[in-house]
Amino acid sequence: MRPVDIVDRLLRDRNRNPGDFGRGSAPVNIALCKYWGKRDRGLHLPVTSSLSVSLPSLGADTKVYHTEKADRFIINNQLLTPDDPAALRLASYLDLFRGERRHCFEVQSVSSVPLAAGLASSASGFAALVLALDDLFDWKLGRRELSIIARLGSGSACRSIYSGFVQWHAGVRADGMDSVAEPLPDTWPDLCVGWIRVSDEKKVVSSREAMERTVTTSPLYQSWPARVQRDLAMLRASIVEHDFHVFGRTAESNALAMHATMLDSWPPVLFWQPRTLEVLQAVWQARAAGIACYFTIDAGPNVKLLFENSSLDELLSFFPEMEMVAPFSLQR
Ligand code: PMV
Repeated sequence: MRPVDIVDRLLRDRNRNPGDFGRGSAPVNIALCKYWGKRDRGLHLPVTSSLSVSLPSLGADTKVYHTEKADRFIINNQLLTPDDPAALRLASYLDLFRGERRHCFEVQSVSSVPLAAGLASSASGFAALVLALDDLFDWKLGRRELSIIARLGSGSACRSIYSGFVQWHAGVRADGMDSVAEPLPDTWPDLCVGWIRVSDEKKVVSSREAMERTVTTSPLYQSWPARVQRDLAMLRASIVEHDFHVFGRTAESNALAMHATMLDSWPPVLFWQPRTLEVLQAVWQARAAGIACYFTIDAGPNVKLLFENSSLDELLSFFPEMEMVAPFSLQR
């Protein structure tokens, strides 16, 4: 099954002719139990479920215009050249929506995420684009369908359709119609997510490539699905009970297990830089000094910190450069 078949099915009785203008915005999300490995590469269907928290004050705000001329992509006020990898990826995604009349689009997107801060800007970017397309075509799709369409752009984008805690269910169907994100009802007003920027440089291995290499070459990856099942259950319970230590420990350990599978791949993948390790050691030192704080890391060198508001001042003495968001104190 191809992505275009899924889109055609979801849009069967919807308008395929765009209006002039649409707009959408979507938050960044940070995975607490990671999505790592696909069971279907074309449809971005994951091997396991995953769980994230959206950061409502950070994300993408996207405008889409229908144009008769060629596509144009303006990201953070910069016009991308047609051969830019981001432009090629966007154009190929928009192919799913051009219809028989081969519509073209101008996309203008502004991201409030510090560029290349390792805050998964592609997830909020694709989610905001899908919401803008829904507005442009006046599809009025439900969030479940929007999450499926966002997944076709970037797997983790399906979670950025929602705020708060979000679980992406892996699903079992070959067409992925049950591989959707679902918001969890729980909130956690004191929870904070901080980030330490280690590097803005482009990664040498894309997360797509790293994921595939892990699935195909890492013997350790065999243990990943059982690991995720356990971690998801622990995270869900700790969120309900606001048990911060179980929550933080599970998220940190899940991230380390994901990176362990990358190290176990061949050729090996290691996104960390010397400064990444210094930050991890500083978190462990802070914890030894009694500060309740944990970390998570995605497919890059930057580190995200998890803590509660009461630890903020103490933590800033360890990490004066830390930037932070309280995901439940400012809903988008
Ligand atoms: O959605 P992608 O293809 O950008 O992959 C995201 C992978 C991780 O960020 C490492 C984990 C996750 O669940 O977001």
